[in-house]
Amino acid sequence: MSKLLELFQGRTSSPPPLWFMRQAGRHLPEYRQVRKTCKTFFDLCYTPHLAAQVTLQPLERFDYDAAILFSDILVIPDALGQKVSFEEGTGPLLSPLSLSTFPKSLSFEGFFEKLAPVYEAISLIRSKLSPSKALIGFAGAPWTLALYMLEGRGNRDFAKAKHQAFQDEENFSKFLDFLSEAVSLHLIEQVKAGVHSVQLFDTWAGHCPATHFQKWVLKPTQKIVAMVRKISDVPIIGFPKGIGSHLLDYGSQSGVSALSLDASTPLTWASENLPKDLIFQGNLDPLLLVSGGNPLKKTIESIHGQMKGRPYIFNLGHGILPQTPLPHIEACVKWVRELK
Ligand code: CP3
Repeated sequence: MSKLLELFQGRTSSPPPLWFMRQAGRHLPEYRQVRKTCKTFFDLCYTPHLAAQVTLQPLERFDYDAAILFSDILVIPDALGQKVSFEEGTGPLLSPLSLSTFPKSLSFEGFFEKLAPVYEAISLIRSKLSPSKALIGFAGAPWTLALYMLEGRGNRDFAKAKHQAFQDEENFSKFLDFLSEAVSLHLIEQVKAGVHSVQLFDTWAGHCPATHFQKWVLKPTQKIVAMVRKISDVPIIGFPKGIGSHLLDYGSQSGVSALSLDASTPLTWASENLPKDLIFQGNLDPLLLVSGGNPLKKTIESIHGQMKGRPYIFNLGHGILPQTPLPHIEACVKWVRELK
């Protein structure tokens, strides 16, 4: 059994299990090779044998304990009928969506047909994955998805999206409920197709004002956890990036099994103030992995020291960056494996 699943079942081990967010992607030459054969990024996400291939690539190179499904958080807006494309250098672009036209502008019609190749990729991956490795599925959290969908792209402050949310809180809450349902359905299908765990990426949770955190971040997360829990006890990892002391509420009230911590979270503080049985994940700075060398080694040891006595998964505070040198990943994995 995978060390990651053993940890979720309560068997803590040292060294900790290890995987990295965005472990499949542009830092790998073999990924860039496959990517070149597809016209668009979504062609890769929706071609099961290719999505399976790039999911497994990082495990062929590095001794990770888990694979993460190769897909994207923006397949949900795509499956709900919003146009999504990816531009080299600009990131995702979504067709304009105004909160005032919701719910007319989106629909569940064709949702599962559109996402069927994702579930097919999961079955394929499971048929090829060693029993000693786990497969992690994922989705974007409603708040983060809502920001992209209303802004039409990623940017520094999501001003257009937040303006709409503030001006019509009632409809924005309905929009978040709708997205919570879409996310839950997508996660449940992933579980049925064979993922061992799921992660909820709330990458822009730190953009939510404190006054609205309960309503816009915590409540949708609780809804999703409750819906997934109705059909499965699959471990759920929450990644509410940048929320600072709101981690106290998120960690104790969201219902997630594990909490992925960004690089700015002081581990000792988190460990002292969060439920003792809550599994942690993270929080190595992705730029330290780019930087490498002794400072990387010292930080790995420091993280391990601060996580002592609590179950944790070694990971980054955010995704691997495309410029990460592969020898640094190699060294990092080796140093983690040497921890006592
Ligand atoms: O972790 C993994 O290896 C699995 C694959 C994965 C991707 N995106 C592949 C991808 C996962 C888990 C994601 C999640 C995702 N996607 C998030 C949440 C986590 C995070 O990174 O913050 C977000 C916000 C997105 C939206 C998204 N997709 C953006 C902002 C971009 C462009 C960023 C960039 O680096 O260009 C994408 C495209 C994307 N998703 C790429 C990959 C490998 C790069 C596109 C390409 O290869 O052509």
